[in-house]
Amino acid sequence: MKALIAAGGRGTRLRPITYSMNKHLIPVANIPLIVWAIQKVVEAGITDIAININEGDTELPKAIGDGSTWNVKITYIEQVGGALGVAHVIKNAKNWLGKDSFVFYLGDNIVLGSINPFVAAFQEQHANAFLALTVVPDPERFGVPQINSAGEIERVIEKPSNPPSQFAVTGIYCFDQTVHDAIDTLHASNRGELEISDTITAVIAQGGKVKYQIVEGWWKDTGKPYDLLEGNRLLLESMSDDRAQAKMIEDGVDIQGKVQLGNGAQLLGKTIIRGPVSIGKNAIIADSYIGPYTSIGHGTEIDGGEIENSIIMDDTDIQCSTRIVDSIIGHNVTIQNAHMTKPSGHKLMIGENSSIEL
Ligand code: DAU
Repeated sequence: MKALIAAGGRGTRLRPITYSMNKHLIPVANIPLIVWAIQKVVEAGITDIAININEGDTELPKAIGDGSTWNVKITYIEQVGGALGVAHVIKNAKNWLGKDSFVFYLGDNIVLGSINPFVAAFQEQHANAFLALTVVPDPERFGVPQINSAGEIERVIEKPSNPPSQFAVTGIYCFDQTVHDAIDTLHASNRGELEISDTITAVIAQGGKVKYQIVEGWWKDTGKPYDLLEGNRLLLESMSDDRAQAKMIEDGVDIQGKVQLGNGAQLLGKTIIRGPVSIGKNAIIADSYIGPYTSIGHGTEIDGGEIENSIIMDDTDIQCSTRIVDSIIGHNVTIQNAHMTKPSGHKLMIGENSSIEL
């Protein structure tokens, strides 16, 4: 089996972060989203992986490489014509996929635990398409299956205003080669995309076998900023304590709960860390409070700060006593206490589509 990971698209809901980086490189628990996806398909024993990227994207291949880190082969496929839909990602990769069955993984999805039982069930049940469904409070944000009294999926509707069930179709699918004929019958939806939901309906229409598993506490889509924080929380909760690579933990430092310290990290002064927390490589935290569900990026320095439930990316500098919560802060940002010069007030330099609560 092969794996195709979707890592293109525009990431509009995560602006301004996605102005300067591919959404799939956003670190969650200090590991880029796409790396979580790669790890899951590698754990499932798949060694031939393609990643769909936007036309001309060199950032993602440069960051991820050829797969040798995981002893697999990674091929990059540019999505010709633009981000024309999730099903277009498969259509665009048709030659690479050939006659093989494959895991199709939307690279902005976070899965807790293993996908191995899911892949095994697809193979055992000889399905043409295999889905993971999960109950969500807001099915109108997702593809939603209509299921009959026999428990069979009749069709899948993309972001319905009147959802026919409480289930979302998660962004991890298995397909066999019959999916290509199904996609050939599709037309662009109202939003101008080839939809994966229509693909599944088309597989059913051509007499294919669509099966599913119901999964619980397994999955998180990271379309919106709050989802990223929630994904960060779930992944930090599931990590193990690891302090072995830290360069320095001074005597006055108080660590409570699980903490992962990157190579060369330094905890100085009267710092309090209340886990679960991940602190990146060569980060320096001095006289600060870092509260639960926080990831501090590689090379980031925090002096006199208070931060909770947040993602702070790499090489950022925070010297500020104002408490920061529920925040996502990008690379190379500087936040400091206001100087005692007039006029007083917050002095901001913030790009387009930023969101600030003072
Ligand atoms: O997360 C599960 C949901 O994912 C499903 O329930 C929906 O049926 C499915 O359509 C999809 O909905 P989203 O609105 O979340 O799709 P999004 O546009 O965010 O794209 C999903 C991933 O695919 C994301 O990693 C970006 C990538 N992508 C997207 C498009 C439209 C591409 O690589 N190329 C594309 O053309």
